Amino acid sequence: MKTAIIGTGKIGEAIAKKLIKAKHSVLLTNNKGAASLKEKAAKLGSLAIPAELSEITRADVLFLTVRWSHLKQVAADVPNLDGKILVDVTNPILDDMSYDNLKGKAASEIVQELFPKTRVVKTLNHYFLKWIDADPKVDNGKRIAFVSGDDTEAKNTVVNLLNEFGFKSIDLGDLATGSKLQQAGGPLAALNLVSYPA
Ligand SMILES: NC(=O)c1ccc[n+]([C@@H]2O[C@H](COP(=O)([O-])OP(=O)(O)OC[C@H]3O[C@@H](n4cnc5c(N)ncnc54)[C@H](OP(=O)(O)O)[C@@H]3O)[C@@H](O)[C@H]2O)c1
Repeated sequence: MKTAIIGTGKIGEAIAKKLIKAKHSVLLTNNKGAASLKEKAAKLGSLAIPAELSEITRADVLFLTVRWSHLKQVAADVPNLDGKILVDVTNPILDDMSYDNLKGKAASEIVQELFPKTRVVKTLNHYFLKWIDADPKVDNGKRIAFVSGDDTEAKNTVVNLLNEFGFKSIDLGDLATGSKLQQAGGPLAALNLVSYPA
């Protein structure tokens, strides 16, 4: 599967590693441009390809891993992503580390509004970097990944990827309800959860 990372910072790189381990090619993008990502891509291996934002239409599944304060700019900068699966790993945390006031909306609903014709699926945002980066296999258990989204096919595609990474995914339902539970400040955020066999 062709994938892309929109914002290859700390979280973007951790997810790129998992995609590459599962043998998917990954276009890496950031704000500074493809040339600045050459070294990072070389470390990740031949499936990692530095790219400009304008090139991400080559991917089917795009991971959104930018800071909340940069979202509007990114939405203005990206090419036409109609129909693409947009995996929202963001949290509505401002640069001073306070929560943004979303006026009752789920953060992913705002992401969906900013990238209107993409199919948004929220996952992995509920973990700290160290748990996203770690092996999801814990003893004989699997770390849990929550998934929310309005488009069933898109959600299934993301669930398959999470399974390939080694997570046990749990579907929380749609963006309006499910994603609120897993976003920063929600009851399922920042818990290190592992599912063990019965
Ligand atoms: N860190 C965590 O533990 C954690 C856990 C769960 C979720 N999250 C969420 O994940 C998101 C990313 O966090 P992070 O810690 O990985 O942030 P980060 O290290 O600051 O990385 C952000 C990336 O976004 C890129 N970017 C900024 N503006 C852009 C633009 N206009 N176009 C393309 N790329 C752009 C930056 O590019 P440059 O490098 O060129 O500036 C950078 O590579 C945030 O929403 C955060 O809330 C973080």
